[in-house]
Amino acid sequence: MRVLVIGGSGVVGRPTVSALVRRGHRVALLSRQGTAGPAGTEAFQGDLTTGAGLDRALAGADCVVDCANITTMSRRTAVRWFTDTTTRLGRLAADAGATHHVVLSIVGIDKVPYGYYTAKLAQEDAVLTGPVPATVLRATQFHEFAGQMMERMTVGRFALVPAMITQPIAAGEVGEALAEVVDAGPAGRVPDIGGPRVERLPDLARQLVRHRGQRRTVVPVRLPGRAGRAMNGPEQLPGDGAVLRGPTFAEWLGSVPRS
Ligand SMILES: NC(=O)c1ccc[n+]([C@@H]2O[C@H](COP(=O)([O-])OP(=O)(O)OC[C@H]3O[C@@H](n4cnc5c(N)ncnc54)[C@H](OP(=O)(O)O)[C@@H]3O)[C@@H](O)[C@H]2O)c1
Repeated sequence: MRVLVIGGSGVVGRPTVSALVRRGHRVALLSRQGTAGPAGTEAFQGDLTTGAGLDRALAGADCVVDCANITTMSRRTAVRWFTDTTTRLGRLAADAGATHHVVLSIVGIDKVPYGYYTAKLAQEDAVLTGPVPATVLRATQFHEFAGQMMERMTVGRFALVPAMITQPIAAGEVGEALAEVVDAGPAGRVPDIGGPRVERLPDLARQLVRHRGQRRTVVPVRLPGRAGRAMNGPEQLPGDGAVLRGPTFAEWLGSVPRS
């Protein structure tokens, strides 16, 4: 099968591309930078926001997997971006003859009133009502998420990290799960996936800082209101029927280079 991974150079895009290659698919990846993938893959430069480059990358694709992301604190911007880009991608994928559109979403987005989660719900709706038969897989935060948060919100030696609980999963496991979803074919919403243990995100960030030997102080930041309360409750943990897989954060960290 020819599979196009949008955002194939990102944290979850990379292992998704690798898992698809291992399964014998012809894999293409698209990102704004046009970053190359592993041997045997085809890289395209394009932009989901404008639609540039999508036609060329989608030509001949049987399946498109959307692993792209936008970093914004604005609910409005996020909702518009995920809705518009997913709707356009679906339309172009249908025109190109694709028969499966896969979206990676997040566990608990329907229970936690947080702007970015509202946008992911809108994305799920856009793909499930779009012209190409779809699959939505919800995952918990990645083990890599603590590092992503620190990259985005470090001021001097202070790393501001959301005070939240999570049951994180290695991005590599999510990539495997997305490749399984591709092979299984369109299935609508499939069972959520998460990691083996409930953790506090600031604790994970501190472990990462120690592992890297950084001089950095982790400052937990609590979101105000209902979102902040929900982020510290069971709402965004995998519930009944979820599939738990992969290493714990500590086991995963042991395999991560120190620098
Ligand atoms: N991080 C988590 O813990 C987590 C957990 C569950 C689900 N998810 C979901 O997983 C998806 C990917 O997240 P991630 O953390 O892997 O993201 P990421 O590391 O930030 O990667 C984003 C990817 O998308 C590409 N991209 C961004 N804007 C683009 C655009 N306008 N057009 C084309 N490509 C674009 C980026 O490459 P360029 O910059 O070169 O364009 C990159 O390859 C998101 O939908 C997120 O909601 C994330």
